[in-house]
Order: sequence, then C-alpha cells, then structure tokens
Amino acid sequence: MCGIIAYIGSRTAEPLLLEGLKRLEYRGYDSAGVAILDGDSLQVARAVGRIIELEDRLGEIGGMGGTLGIGHTRWATHGGVTEANCHPHRDDANGIAVVHNGIIENYAALRTYLVGKGHAFSSETDTEVLAMLIGELYEGDLEESVKAALREVTGAYAIAVICAREPDTLVVARKGSPLMVGVGNGEYVVGSDASAIIAHTTQAFPLDDYNVVRITREGFRTSTIDDAPVTPQVMQLEFDLEQIELGAFSHFMLKEIFEQPKVLRTTLRGRIDHNEGRVVLGGLTSFAKELVKARRFILTAQGTALHAAMIGEYLLEDLAKISAEVEYGSEFRYRNPIIEDRTVVVGVSQSGETADTLCALIEAKDRGAMSLGVVNVVGSTMARETDAGVYLRVGPEIGVASTKAFTGQVTVLTMLALYMARRRFMSPDVCARCLKQLDAIPDKIERVLESDGHVREVTERYVGRDNWLFLGRGYNYPTALEGALKLKEISYIHAEGMPAAEMKHGPIALIDEGMPVVFIANQGRQYNKVLSNIAETRSRGGHVIAVATEGDTEITKVAQEVLYIPECEEYLSPLLAVVPLQLMAFHAAVLRGHDVDKPRNLAKSVTVE
Ligand code: F6R
Repeated sequence: MCGIIAYIGSRTAEPLLLEGLKRLEYRGYDSAGVAILDGDSLQVARAVGRIIELEDRLGEIGGMGGTLGIGHTRWATHGGVTEANCHPHRDDANGIAVVHNGIIENYAALRTYLVGKGHAFSSETDTEVLAMLIGELYEGDLEESVKAALREVTGAYAIAVICAREPDTLVVARKGSPLMVGVGNGEYVVGSDASAIIAHTTQAFPLDDYNVVRITREGFRTSTIDDAPVTPQVMQLEFDLEQIELGAFSHFMLKEIFEQPKVLRTTLRGRIDHNEGRVVLGGLTSFAKELVKARRFILTAQGTALHAAMIGEYLLEDLAKISAEVEYGSEFRYRNPIIEDRTVVVGVSQSGETADTLCALIEAKDRGAMSLGVVNVVGSTMARETDAGVYLRVGPEIGVASTKAFTGQVTVLTMLALYMARRRFMSPDVCARCLKQLDAIPDKIERVLESDGHVREVTERYVGRDNWLFLGRGYNYPTALEGALKLKEISYIHAEGMPAAEMKHGPIALIDEGMPVVFIANQGRQYNKVLSNIAETRSRGGHVIAVATEGDTEITKVAQEVLYIPECEEYLSPLLAVVPLQLMAFHAAVLRGHDVDKPRNLAKSVTVE
C-alpha cells in the first residue's frame, strides 16, 4: 500500500528512483512522483496513473539532474486520485519535500493549527500537513524539525524527507509502516520494501518504530524521535533480482502460481526429519515447552491469509487435537477478547505488515497470550513483534492476488499441527507417514499445473457470467472462500464462497439457468454429501464445475466440467484444490481484459486499519 524509494549517493537519482518505483508499483498505482535536489534546487514531478506517466512527464521536462531524491507510488487513502494529491508534498517556504506511507490520524487538528499560522494547502492529504508541519518547525536542522513534527503526530508513517537548504541530507523515519535502509558503497537506497533496494545492495536494516535516520553520503546516524541513540543491525537480504522479475511469464500472478512446487520444496526443506518422524522448526525451539502446554490456539489474519488460517484451525483440531479458532484481526482487536491462560495466538501473514493482523497480535500479547508469526517477509514487523515463528520461505510475492503465500501458509500450518501432534501424542511412525504425504505435495501440484490449458478452456466457457458460487465442505470450505476471493479481486466477477451445506439455507435462491457453481468435490469423508449438494444445484439449472480426485468417474455423470487433482489425504487436499481455482481466476481476469497484477482498487499489503 504505497511505495517509497529514496536515494543519496553519487549516481544520478532520477533513473534509479524510477526503476525503484517500477519495482514498488504493485504496492500502489494510482499516481506517482519524485522530488530531486540538484544542488540547492528542489525539482518535483508528479503524475496521475502508472509510473510510465511519470516517466513521460519527466521526459517532457528534459529530465532531472541531482544525486539525492525521493519517490512515491500512491494508493489513495486521504483525498482522491489527482495530481494535487500525489506525493511528494512540499513546504515551499523552506524547500522541504516529503513522501509518506501510512495515515496521520490527527491531521485535521494539525491542519487547522497550520492554517492559523498562515499556511495554504493545495491538497486534501494528511501528508501535506506533515510537510508543512516540518517546515513550520524548521530552524536550520532538518533532522530536528522532522523529530519535532513527529512528536506531534498520531498515526502511522514511513517517511523520507529532503530540504533544499540541506542538499546533502536525507532524513527517513518510521512508525507502524515498514521502511528499510539499504547500505551500499558510498550510497544509500531507502525503500518501503526490499524489492526497491535489492538491485543496488544486499545489505540493509529495517527501521523500528519511532526511529529516525539521518543519512549523508558519508554515513548515517540512527536515533529515536526523542533523540536516544539506536544501533541498527545491518542484515543480508536473502533474495535475488530474479525472484522479483517476470522472466518468461506474462504476469507475476501466473509466475507465482507456477512457482508453487519449487517454493514449497523450500518451505519444507530441512524441516522434515523422516528418520525420527518429526518436524524440525528452528524458530519454535525456544518456546517448545510452552507450546506443548498450550490449551488453545487463536489464529488471526485477513483475506487470503485468513482462509489459510481457517485450514490451520481444522489441522490443529484434527491432527493435534488442540482447540483452535480463527479471528479476523480487525474484529478480534476491538472485541474485548478473553485470553485464558496458555493461549497461543498465531498471526498468519504474507507481508508481516498487515495492520489489522498486527494490532490483533499486539492486543493478544498485551492480554498475556504467547504469540507466533507464520510470516513470509523476513524481518517484517510481525516477525519481530512475535515471541517465535516460522517463515514461509516462498520468496517475494509481487502479484497483488496472493497465491504462493497461501499454499506456503497452509504448508507451514500443516507442519505446525504435526509438530504439536508429535510432541503431544503422535507416534514417530504415524508422523513419518504424514510427513511423507506432505513431502509429496509439490510434485502433485506440478501435475495440477499441467492441466492449465484445460482450466483455461473451462473458464472461457463461463467467463461471461457475472455471478458465481464456490462451495466446499470441511477442509475445502476455506478453499471455496479462497476461490471466490481470487475470482472477484482480479476479474471483478461477483463470487461467493460458502460451506456447501449452507447453500440450501438461502443462497440457493440465486441459482438460475447456467450459473457457474464451483464445487470442491475431492474424495473424502463428505464426498457423498457434496454429491447431494451438486444434485440440488443441477436441479435448479446451475452449471457445476467440480474439482475432483483423479480416477473419479462418477463425478463426470453429475458435473458439466471436471478439474482433476491427484489423490491425497483429505487434510492436504486444499493445497491441491486451490491451484485450479487460482488458474481459473487468472484466466478469467485475462479473458475479461483486466490488468491481473494491478487490480482495480487494490494494492499489496494493507498497512492501515
Ligand atoms: C488476496 C490478498 C489479501 C491478503 C490480505 C492479508 O489475494 O492478497 O487478501 O491476503 O490483505 O495480507 P498479508 O498476508 O500480507 O497479511
């Protein structure tokens, strides 16, 4: 949700900022802008639309010189999508320019105060208020005025600030919205995520809340907004450029769907001990004793991660026999939740930055729960705020619609359930059998991917329909929810997911002649019940697209379309059943002519509540 890039060094800033913005565009693509200092001249260019529009604008003005600059790609929160609302925002009196991610909650009061001081605003944004406040408090030292301004602010921010009166200084700060400083050779690249930095350096440090970094070409100094010194830990970024580039694929979403076998092998690597029949999760070692004593798990998440968490709930109850429940982070936090002794709260998140999930985790921790993170982004806020955790290791997810993170989350939650089961009661033999089946999943996903052409043909037959239903039972009820979410978020087709049994309690009224109804109808305990629900659908004219187990010929008698997945244990079936649904959503969006990687109204990583 919005991307920040900043550069200080000896290279020309403009191309570097543009390249960084392109890599960050998946985080916001309403509008973009840069501010660059050429000596003490502050130049600003902004444009509504994609980065390409900004590039054209810069071309028209003949480009910009200068080796210090900031850039932003926006996903609108305060104020509509207009050039006036684009970042960077300025205080012209002092030549200050600011880019900002997050929300300044007390911006209205600050704006009234600043208007009283004679400031005139040209945008509707909270960020312009921040720029003016820094200007108002400026007394010849940018770092000091940034700190003074941030002491007045409530809300979340990651900011990068430059000032024409200090042409050798970049100041960046963070509270509640991610920001990291890449440390290069005589140069620094700041980004709201590592993908903006990785082309230039693999050494970086994330800012903690309330940290302010003053960066010059000679070095940097970190302190808190209250001037307490901070020693940041520079770390090695563990991914390479290839992982954030399209390669031979047309879209990041497609690339990430096809990457699933490979990345899930990495998720599993070194974590399965076949000889001892146990799961090895290094990130949990220091909490193993407390975990075993846990009485209840609460899994908290949003969106796709919530669907993975729902599968985690089934896994923990079914395999590890532990009471588990799932909560939207956004609801949990404000509900005055009861946290009993020996409760473990698990935050499930790709980004590790989702504000709703993060706030719920912190709330649960404050109420005495032990916290775990099931997170993809290494060093993210959730990874740092939790007591222990397990990384997904699926590599950077650039596609706005989450795919490989979902299967990564389900894989880790399966390992967590088996880890708990084995420590509580499961025999090494039984656990070894389960782990063998889990280990076979990446190969089976590869087989599902071979049916991509068939999935596309099926999708083509129904893509003109505006209302779809996705139905499943047990482990595949969350898969149905995920199938519906994928379809609606990128193809803008109205889709609803629900337990198959729930259909006859009302939604069946929606079914009319030819309505596509997707059933997850793999072999399992509830197969016959799903067949009954299929019959109910058919008799109302619905067209059934069934995700079924290879070798099931019965299903062809009742479903118009069948998408086969290899045979597997029921508790592992979501990992296979979701794949044709991901492909179907992708093809539907392409066939409808939509920009799959930049869906309407959506951006990656929702860092505001
Ligand atoms: C859907 C999607 C979102 C995210 C949700 C949580 O495709 O990507 O629903 O799953 O915003 O994000 P993370 O996993 O980063 O916490």
